[in-house]
Amino acid sequence: MAEPGPDTGAAVSRRRLLAGGALAVGGAALTGAAAGSALTPPPPAAPGAVPAGPAAEPFWGPHQAGIATPPQAHAVFLALDLGPGVDRAAVVRLMRLLTDDAARLTQGRAALGDTEPELAGQPARLTVTFGFGPGLFRAVGLPSPVAPLPPFGIDRLEDRWSGGDLLVQICADDPLTVAHAHRMLVKDARPFGTVRFGQHGFRRAAGTQPAGGTQRNVLGQLDGTANPAPDSPGFAAAVWITEGPLSGGTTLVLRRIRAELETWDAVDRAGKEFAVGRRLDTGAPLTGTAEHDAPDLAARTPLGFPVIADAAHVRRAHVAEPGARIHRRPYNYNRAAGPDGRPDTGLLFASYQRDVEGQYVPIQRRLAEADLLNEWTTPIGSGVYAVPPGAEPGRYVGHTILET
Ligand code: HEM
Repeated sequence: MAEPGPDTGAAVSRRRLLAGGALAVGGAALTGAAAGSALTPPPPAAPGAVPAGPAAEPFWGPHQAGIATPPQAHAVFLALDLGPGVDRAAVVRLMRLLTDDAARLTQGRAALGDTEPELAGQPARLTVTFGFGPGLFRAVGLPSPVAPLPPFGIDRLEDRWSGGDLLVQICADDPLTVAHAHRMLVKDARPFGTVRFGQHGFRRAAGTQPAGGTQRNVLGQLDGTANPAPDSPGFAAAVWITEGPLSGGTTLVLRRIRAELETWDAVDRAGKEFAVGRRLDTGAPLTGTAEHDAPDLAARTPLGFPVIADAAHVRRAHVAEPGARIHRRPYNYNRAAGPDGRPDTGLLFASYQRDVEGQYVPIQRRLAEADLLNEWTTPIGSGVYAVPPGAEPGRYVGHTILET
């Protein structure tokens, strides 16, 4: 069966449904089963195509993609606020629509009603990951398993980069793929609320460095070295929730952290390495020679000072127990410099963990109390979201929560 194009009855009737009755309870919502049956194989790769374009990440499964998935080069973190009157039935319809969009787009197929279906043809490892903020739980009449982080002394939070009822993390190795998925998802979500923010992030472009290597952030550091490896038992213990409606899911903390590069530039390399406790070139701990050497936190200089300073970032952030660690999946951001030439740059620090209070907050508290890196980093945005488990074909992301 041919994919319903933008001018087919299926697309038009869905558009009418969206435009006419998005908020109506119990309208003729697109069912997951109907959505699944309309899928067709992606078009063959064009002659001369490079491998990155057709590469696809699985969408259906016990966990949502985009968490254990090796980070793609580009990301948008999109936050939506639900409109007044959006109730549980409407949120179910929204999640059915967005799940259907994500299931298609991640496999290189146009979303229903896609007016530029050609833009969907190169998924470039696209993943779409949904998270529910406290406001979504309020709207559907359920107690929220997540809450905003407590305030920290280092915070200079701005509303425009914080919160949101529904968070959609869109990642792919190609920025045009991300832009297209972003637009399709916003288009379908628009009748249900408003866009709170869309934060764009990037890592090294695919093919720039060997696969599996640690990326560098905008401060020049190798960032991600001590992260739990997705195939290690420690990863599952740290990340996946194992009980209740969120079983198979996790939580996401998203922090927008500005990097004060003007003053960072004024520090010498030894000072920069001292602040973190690792070398800039190899990423090795100051007590070792290779990136993956374990830091020796007990090592002392001949004069008796700790080699890795008491307030060095890696000492303050370190967690010994594998199940209590966090999984960092950060992106860089970089916007145009201001008229004075000052950079507007930093990290979209995304952290996944099964328990925000038990894992993320203690680390953040230690860092807020003392971390040499605080001199050059300022949190300006913050959000916490419950990430539902993945869905099986015919279901939608969030059904384990919304159908309780
Ligand atoms: C702009 C802000 C930040 C920068 C530039 C930064 C940079 C780094 C660097 C360079 C490392 C060492 C290499 C590695 O293991 O990845 C590191 C480690 C780490 N960071 Fe951060 N970080 C930032 C914010 C945070 C925040 C907000 C948290 C959590 C609340 C955090 C938690 C950690 C953890 C858990 C480690 C591993 C520590 C270990 O066990 O060795 N970082 N970070």
